[in-house]
Amino acid sequence: MSTIFLATWDQPGGIAIREAYRQHQAGLDILTCIERGLAVAELDPDLIAIGLGSVPNSDGDIELDAAMMDGKTLDAGAVCAVRGICPVISVARKVMEDSPCVMIAGEQARRFAIEKGFLPIVTHTADSIQRHQEWADSKEKVTNYVHVTSDPSGQLHGDTITMLALQDGHLVAASSTSGMPFKVPGRVGDSPIVGAGIYADNEAGAAGATGYGEELWKAAASSKTVEAMRHGASAQDACNQTIDFMIRRQPKATDIPCVVFAISPTGDFGAASTKEDFPLWSCVDGVFKLHHYSFRRA
Ligand code: GLY
Repeated sequence: MSTIFLATWDQPGGIAIREAYRQHQAGLDILTCIERGLAVAELDPDLIAIGLGSVPNSDGDIELDAAMMDGKTLDAGAVCAVRGICPVISVARKVMEDSPCVMIAGEQARRFAIEKGFLPIVTHTADSIQRHQEWADSKEKVTNYVHVTSDPSGQLHGDTITMLALQDGHLVAASSTSGMPFKVPGRVGDSPIVGAGIYADNEAGAAGATGYGEELWKAAASSKTVEAMRHGASAQDACNQTIDFMIRRQPKATDIPCVVFAISPTGDFGAASTKEDFPLWSCVDGVFKLHHYSFRRA
């Protein structure tokens, strides 16, 4: 059977999915492949929606969130609002495999990471400090979002990387983000929340989210999408159902893009968005493709 990896956004997803596949070729299990894919993206200071050098909160601090879930056992691990540790996806994995918890937050997550052998680091770069300074000096102080890239237009573009993988009926999911740019200190979005930002169950499917974290969380977007697959929907139909529900029930869901994507235990996959077309990477047995999903109209 095929091995399939999926990753959100042209970048940072492109870097993460290539690293995941490289690890797969080296013979590593799919959970480790997506962990390493996300870790490489976190450690790249040019990817400013995740990890090192990412966009800080309104105080100028970088607070990172990450989660992973194993669809075989429903085991999950997450960290949120972590400062001074990178890559946090690897800390989330430690929480899953080496603690009795599902989530550890803030300073205690940092302490947990250090106890497990992670080195504290400065996650700021000169660019991230400058980015915060420019924001603090701006009149509007816009906190929304969410596309974060340092593209030539100067527009912030990108967002959370969420990854899903499937091999021989085994589904896994993981996500990593610095969250909403210039967010309220301590704010946590959907990404590290099991059921909101990620969900995986070998019996039903796996789903992930990216975009406007508060709205995706209110919808329990990933869980809702997996439950639709459990009740017989294809991955694409399940994503459509979640996004149509959000558009119908949540007045703010079209203010900022909300995206879900999903894969079934047999390998069909899809994605849907409340606003703006959405790029999703797939890698099916080493063949990489960037898909573009049109947004659902209200
Ligand atoms: N989806 C990322 C966030 O809202 O934090």
